[in-house]
Amino acid sequence: MHIERSGSTCGATVHGVDLSGPLDSELISEIRSAWLKHRVLAFADQSMDDDALERLTIAMGGFGEDPYFAPIEGREHIAAILREADETSPLFAEKWHSDWSFLPDPPAGTCLMAVDIPSTGGDTLFADQIAAFAALPEDRKTQLRRLNAVHSAIYAYSPDGEYGERDKGRSMAIRPDESARQSHVHPLIRQHPETGEEAIFSTLGYIVGIEGMAQNDAFALLAELAQWQSRDEFVYSHKWQPGMVVMWDNRSVLHRATGGYEGQRRELHRTTIAAWKP
Ligand code: SIN
Repeated sequence: MHIERSGSTCGATVHGVDLSGPLDSELISEIRSAWLKHRVLAFADQSMDDDALERLTIAMGGFGEDPYFAPIEGREHIAAILREADETSPLFAEKWHSDWSFLPDPPAGTCLMAVDIPSTGGDTLFADQIAAFAALPEDRKTQLRRLNAVHSAIYAYSPDGEYGERDKGRSMAIRPDESARQSHVHPLIRQHPETGEEAIFSTLGYIVGIEGMAQNDAFALLAELAQWQSRDEFVYSHKWQPGMVVMWDNRSVLHRATGGYEGQRRELHRTTIAAWKP
C-alpha cells in the first residue's frame, strides 16, 4: 500500500490496493490506521461494484443509518448521490456538514464510490476539524470545550426544509420527514473515540443552537466559528477520477459538494459507516 499525502492537513490517495475482492483483516487494519491519520482516503484505480462497496463498509464497522435517503434498487444500504445533466435544482450538500450529525449516535464515516464522473468540476471539499481546533487560541479552546451543541435536520430534511416539499425536479431519492424536527445534543468539541484527538464536531446548519445560550448569541458564535472551520489552510479539495472510492471520517472532517459541471451527469454510490463500538 502506497500513500500519497494531499499536501493539506487531511486527505491522502492510496495506491496499490485492490478493494474489489475479499478484504483480509491485516489489510483492513492498515487501511484503518491510514484513515485515522489522514481522515480522508481516496483509493485510486479501483474496479469496485456495489458488492465491493458494501464489503468495505461492513469491514470498516458495518452500515450506519441513512434516515432521509431511499436506497438504490436492490440494495438496502446504498444511496445514489446523483445529478442529471439537465438538472436545475440547487446542488445537493453544498453546505459544510458532518453526515447525520443530528442522530443520537452519528456515523463514524462515509464511503463514496465514483459511478459517473464529469470531466470537469464536482470536487468534494473536506475541512479538517482536528487541525481547525488545534489552531485556536487556548482561551477560545477552553470556552468551546464547555459548550454543548443542539443538532437537528430541521432546515434540511423536514417537509418545509431545503430538501422538503418545495424542492422540485431533483433526481436524488430524498425522503423528507417530520422526524427531522427532532434534536439531539452533542459536545461542540468531541474527543475522537479512536485517537483521543479533539475536533470541532459538525457546524452551522445541522447545529441549530447551543444549550443554555440565547439563540442570537448562539448563531453569532456558530457563524464566526463556521468561517474558521472552513479556512483554506484546513481544506483538502478532492478531484474525482473514474474508478475512485473515497472514505472520510465524519468525526474529524466536514465536507461539502461543489458544482462546475453544468450539462454533465454526476453519480456516486454512498454508504454510511456505523458509529464505532470499541
Ligand atoms: C455528500 O455530502 O455525501 C456529497 C458529496 C459530493 O457530492 O461531493
